[in-house]
Amino acid sequence: MATVRLGQKHRVLARGIPDSYSNAMANYFGSGPTDLELARAQHTIYCQTLEDEGLEVTLLEADQNHPDCVFVEDQAIVIDGHVLLPIPGHPSRVAEQPPIAEFLSKHYSPEKIFRMSSECKMDGGDLLRLGDLFFVGRSSRTNDAGIAVLRELLDRLGHELRVINLPPEALHLTSISSTPTDKIIFAPEGYIDKQSFGQLPDDSQIIWMPKEEVYGCNTIGLEGGKVIIAEGYPTVLATVKELGLTPTVIDMSQIRAADGSLTCLSIFY
Ligand code: GLY
Repeated sequence: MATVRLGQKHRVLARGIPDSYSNAMANYFGSGPTDLELARAQHTIYCQTLEDEGLEVTLLEADQNHPDCVFVEDQAIVIDGHVLLPIPGHPSRVAEQPPIAEFLSKHYSPEKIFRMSSECKMDGGDLLRLGDLFFVGRSSRTNDAGIAVLRELLDRLGHELRVINLPPEALHLTSISSTPTDKIIFAPEGYIDKQSFGQLPDDSQIIWMPKEEVYGCNTIGLEGGKVIIAEGYPTVLATVKELGLTPTVIDMSQIRAADGSLTCLSIFY
């Protein structure tokens, strides 16, 4: 989940991988999962890595009727003690949300939980937070009506929102970018215009990665300078080290196969 600051990452919601995972959508960098056992093993390592970093991880049961249900990030947006439940941007994923909403309702009071109306659509994967500056991808999954609802919430919380038009070859904004710290964005060359993020605060920067390492641009920053990254992206790995951060590298091959990245697998709440 890309909508919480590093210091707000204490509890994680994840969800198991269903037997139907081989039917998960794969229309971008994935060509479809081929090894359910390996996918589950990679997911277990992911959850264990977060636990090893001191986070409390809750694993919801997989939903066999929803092959993409492991990608919980898309289903709920947590910002500073508020929860926005979007209308997921792909119809096949809408019914994944109720158990996640039910879980979060045990942790947030009703006046802190917001829902979108039917004309809206948004996937949580289209959100990126840099400190108190937010970005949203206008994508095949996120429309202007959804962005308007998000903007209303962020206005109320005093945070700025900037909209980035995603190219058709990118599923989500977080498919091509992340904030490994509250002051750094990783993004790939050749996907979006370099001006898309606008002027950043003076203490912040974008680090552009080679286009072929686009998948590696999705990272999970944690407190204490730790950064979880996907295996196989040497420039991303070297950059993390050069920044004085500590990488933990995870094999994500069977998650990537269904167009999923590191952040897709969790909601920090
Ligand atoms: N396979 C993830 C998604 O398309 O939402």
